[in-house]
Amino acid sequence: MMIHEPLRVTTPGGAYDVLIGPALLDELADQLAAQGVVGRLWLVSDPQVARLYGDRVLAALQRAGRHATLYQVPMGEHSKDLAVAAQLYDWLLAGGIERRDAILALGGGVIGDLAGFVAATVLRGVSLVQLPTNLQAMVDSAIGGKTGINHALGKNLIGAFHQPRLVLADTTTLATLPMRERSAGWAEVVKHGVIRDAGLFAWLERLDGAMLPDEPACSALLRRAVAVKVDVVNLDERETGERMLLNYGHTLGHAIEAEAGYGTLLHGEAVAIGMDLEAQIAERLGCFTAGDVARQRALLRQLGLGTSIPAGMTAAALLDRTLRDKKVQAGRVRWVLPHAIGSAAVHADVPDSLVQAVVAAACDPQSMTEQTRQ
Ligand SMILES: NC(=O)c1ccc[n+]([C@@H]2O[C@H](COP(=O)([O-])OP(=O)(O)OC[C@H]3O[C@@H](n4cnc5c(N)ncnc54)[C@H](O)[C@@H]3O)[C@@H](O)[C@H]2O)c1
Repeated sequence: MMIHEPLRVTTPGGAYDVLIGPALLDELADQLAAQGVVGRLWLVSDPQVARLYGDRVLAALQRAGRHATLYQVPMGEHSKDLAVAAQLYDWLLAGGIERRDAILALGGGVIGDLAGFVAATVLRGVSLVQLPTNLQAMVDSAIGGKTGINHALGKNLIGAFHQPRLVLADTTTLATLPMRERSAGWAEVVKHGVIRDAGLFAWLERLDGAMLPDEPACSALLRRAVAVKVDVVNLDERETGERMLLNYGHTLGHAIEAEAGYGTLLHGEAVAIGMDLEAQIAERLGCFTAGDVARQRALLRQLGLGTSIPAGMTAAALLDRTLRDKKVQAGRVRWVLPHAIGSAAVHADVPDSLVQAVVAAACDPQSMTEQTRQ
């Protein structure tokens, strides 16, 4: 049931609707037909999501007379790998995929990025439909056309921009999300509030802890978070300007995620710590108030997210990793820093010493307390 108007992504790479609402997977066949997706359907998922929703989606498509098959890849970040992409190419090409067919990505960001990359490259590109089933994917990764896999030297280093034909987010799937995954997903929603939508941020503050609200509020809240992503992508598909704002919390977040060892912290958990640190950097620069740093921290905690750097990490190791970020230009990190709740900007001139001071204090809060006492 769609209870809101679709949001529309319009970029040079493609225009498509983002549908958000309860039980939308039951309408998938109709929606595909409405978008002119007429060929065979190649569904990619992971075992957890496939067990919960795979049969339901396949059955609904087959009832509508569609030819649809399912391939499962192992759960987790390790599936964003060239070897797993190769297995998908084997499955698709041996099965006789044609240019008018579509690949459907049913799952979280890993499935969306991997299946999206394969859709971008097999037969020089076939249609992609994103069916995000967790909070992170619904508000962020399923929208905007970034697809990719990892390389031993870093995350998402191999990829392509490939806009989907349709994004369909069925909010009823969120009921089966483990609590830790749900909290991690909230991180990206908070990020959207901080960078562009103070009203969204305030709405999150009114939630009952980390609980998702009931319908129709759930879809309305998600729609508002998705609208931020859609607006930013519409302004800047290729991340040359506005889209960089979506990296708020991610420069240090990625460093912390990698330093912990992939799979230890969830992406959203690392981003929450990154947002807290990057807000502190903004505060030291004088562009964000201490009150807003505290407000953001309180919201992250309310949503079940920690803000402390895991024990044992050093500022030197984290800063070294930030320099290897894809967004570094001419050796300088471009930091996305908040100016207020609801507004942020890119800063290319943040002194390394200031970043070092903030991260070092967070890595060793005891020494900070000592310094303050002296
Ligand atoms: N393309 C982009 O623009 C973009 C943006 C942000 C993140 N990403 C990528 O997304 C990936 C992380 O995605 P993620 O956080 O969604 O992780 P994920 O895809 O690994 O999903 C997390 C877990 O949630 C489970 N899950 C998903 N839906 C479920 C449901 N309804 N019920 C129960 N379990 C469910 C999955 O089985 C998985 O174990 C990273 O690789 C990151 O680089 C991409």
